[in-house]
Amino acid sequence: MTFRARHLLGIEHLSPDEIRAVLDLAERYVDLNRRTVKHGDALEGLTQINMFFEVSTRTQASFELAGKRLGADVMNMSVATSSVRKGETLIDTALSLNAMHPDLLVVRHPSSGAVHLLAQKVQDCAVLNAGDGRHEHPTQALLDALTIRRAKGRLHRLTVAICGDIAHSRVARSNLLLLARMENRVRLIGPPTLMPAGVGDFGCEVTDDMAEGLRDADVVMMLRLQRERMDGGFIPSEREYYHRYGLDAAKLAAARPDAIVMHPGPMNRGVEIDGTLADDINRSVIQDQVEMGVAVRMACMDLLARNLRAERGAKAAGVMA
Ligand code: NCD
Repeated sequence: MTFRARHLLGIEHLSPDEIRAVLDLAERYVDLNRRTVKHGDALEGLTQINMFFEVSTRTQASFELAGKRLGADVMNMSVATSSVRKGETLIDTALSLNAMHPDLLVVRHPSSGAVHLLAQKVQDCAVLNAGDGRHEHPTQALLDALTIRRAKGRLHRLTVAICGDIAHSRVARSNLLLLARMENRVRLIGPPTLMPAGVGDFGCEVTDDMAEGLRDADVVMMLRLQRERMDGGFIPSEREYYHRYGLDAAKLAAARPDAIVMHPGPMNRGVEIDGTLADDINRSVIQDQVEMGVAVRMACMDLLARNLRAERGAKAAGVMA
């Protein structure tokens, strides 16, 4: 088996072969999802718990649909109604979770590293990171990779421009890791105030000039301004920001004529991207990203469940011997 991971905590821990294994299996699920009857049985009998400590519509819905299509029993633990609001610690949460015997645990958390901590505390269960603070969002990078591979016919030697609020973005971080691992050229574009510390050591080109950054790009990935993670004035005004960094047809003209436009959502139309361009099916693959999201999450949970079953099988055999 190529895919050996026990949990999916970040792209950081995946090899190029593991990334390819996810994308290849996801292709099969894209086909399944386009049929009238969309049922697979890869997660039959398994319990999937989605724990979102931060608001999400798209990602949570995508994981829920992915689990249901593969036959898992899916439960959404809403944080607004859970005891987390009453001050329960992450460790206590993990202990109660263990008592419920989930097989797959999907976690989103506002603090970087919180998902790793949970993964250490839960027993006999695969943990998937659905976004932790400004750290990683691995399924987003994988669904972006599948979208790119299908649109461009390959996932190597492409020039990918990632634009906007890089500093606060787990999407940028996971994408940067994945794209570099698959031997692509990555350019980061944004105002210096929205670049992370140490960006000079990331091994990619960095610029605050859109025309320069977009030149000959095959893929243009726009990011949302993460207002909830900003304390203070990172940009003069949204109007000014749109003027310099908002993607419209005129700025896109610097990229290759067949360049595709991406955005992880939710979008601020007229802030980081022009609404008409976002809806232009000849350039924008934003809807494809949503479709690939379900298929990629099905593939990730399927592969993790196989490893979990194999591990349990080996343990049981050990006990018998
Ligand atoms: C991203 C996230 O939550 O990190 N969105 C998503 O997963 N749909 C990006 C964002 O919030 O801007």
